[in-house]
Amino acid sequence: MISRRGLITGGAAAAAGALARRETPPVEPFHGTHQAGVATALQAHAVFLGFDLRRGTRKEAIVRLLQLLTDDAARLTQGRPALADTEPELAATPARLTVTFGFGPGLFEAAGVDSPVAPLPAFRTDRLEQRWSGGDLLVQVCADDALTVAHAVRMIVKDTRSFARVRWTQRGFHSGNRRNLMGQLEGTVNPVDLDRAVWIGQGALRGGTTMVLRRIRMRLETWDAADRVAREFTIGRRLDTGAPLTGTAERDTPDYERKNRLGFPVISEFAHIRRAHVADPGQRILRRPYNYDEGLTADGESDSGLLFASYQADIARQFVPIQRLLAEGDLLNEWITAIGSAVFAIPPGCAPGGWIGETLLT
Ligand code: HEM
Repeated sequence: MISRRGLITGGAAAAAGALARRETPPVEPFHGTHQAGVATALQAHAVFLGFDLRRGTRKEAIVRLLQLLTDDAARLTQGRPALADTEPELAATPARLTVTFGFGPGLFEAAGVDSPVAPLPAFRTDRLEQRWSGGDLLVQVCADDALTVAHAVRMIVKDTRSFARVRWTQRGFHSGNRRNLMGQLEGTVNPVDLDRAVWIGQGALRGGTTMVLRRIRMRLETWDAADRVAREFTIGRRLDTGAPLTGTAERDTPDYERKNRLGFPVISEFAHIRRAHVADPGQRILRRPYNYDEGLTADGESDSGLLFASYQADIARQFVPIQRLLAEGDLLNEWITAIGSAVFAIPPGCAPGGWIGETLLT
């Protein structure tokens, strides 16, 4: 029989447990071989900040800036206020905050160091706008709490002000259901062996990777006008389950050989998944996309799409061939247009007391 006393102490223990859970908020580690925010499970909110270094900012100043920002990130991600934090209370809810740094070609040039990344070649389908493209320094801020993200962004922008100015701010979101604004399930096929596909194994970038960020606008008005069959045909997967058109479950392997009664491939030659598929898992790109929705344009059209972020050991060998095939013939092109593009080297992580970029700039 459960005694009254047992019930009370049991209740107290449960309450203490709940308290303990509250006292250990979800935290992503900051220090380590790799920067957080790449292999980290998607958080609900993201802000990508692209900075341009101020004219005349040279290596010494860049190092000082990176030391400052590393310190901010190391504190904020662990639920501690930044130095001279104006709102220290807002740091108490890290909500799986990650702050990830990337260096564009311009940062290397300013520092007098050979750049390991180069701008992408032009693709036929691109309609790039300068206001969403390029950038010397990327700071990617992600967390499950929008206020946490806003606070971290503010601290970082504050500390960056005398070295650089914000070139663009791109805000993205995700719900737990992994769906984008076209209603599709995303993230089905991604590399598993990140040491082969994503992390660089040698040189100054060892433990780091590269990132491509593309702002891809969706024409949702005309997408909404397409029927379900056409939408599923476009991707090669079902909208409800995410299963390939030749299967029944999301993880079923697509059968690209299967033909319908008329002798045509069930998964079209121009379906997005066929065009984007890379047979060698070690050559796949790690996609970590966020939805964006900025309401309506002046013309009353939806200003929404995907902040397509991909990470790969080698942009030229992994990202570019896929993007080229997609630009040449992807049914999805009818409804999507890349309007922004940027590339960054993502330095390795650092140990306590170190700073992000030390292997590249010293
Ligand atoms: C708004 C733009 C895009 C949308 C809505 C979109 C949507 C999708 C969807 C629904 C899938 C199937 C589920 C999955 O595996 O995640 C997929 C797969 C994929 N997408 Fe995209 N995508 C877009 C842009 C891109 C771009 C720009 C690239 C690369 C340059 C890309 C590369 C891939 C790859 C590699 C796969 C996996 C293919 C496979 O091996 O099955 N996608 N995409």
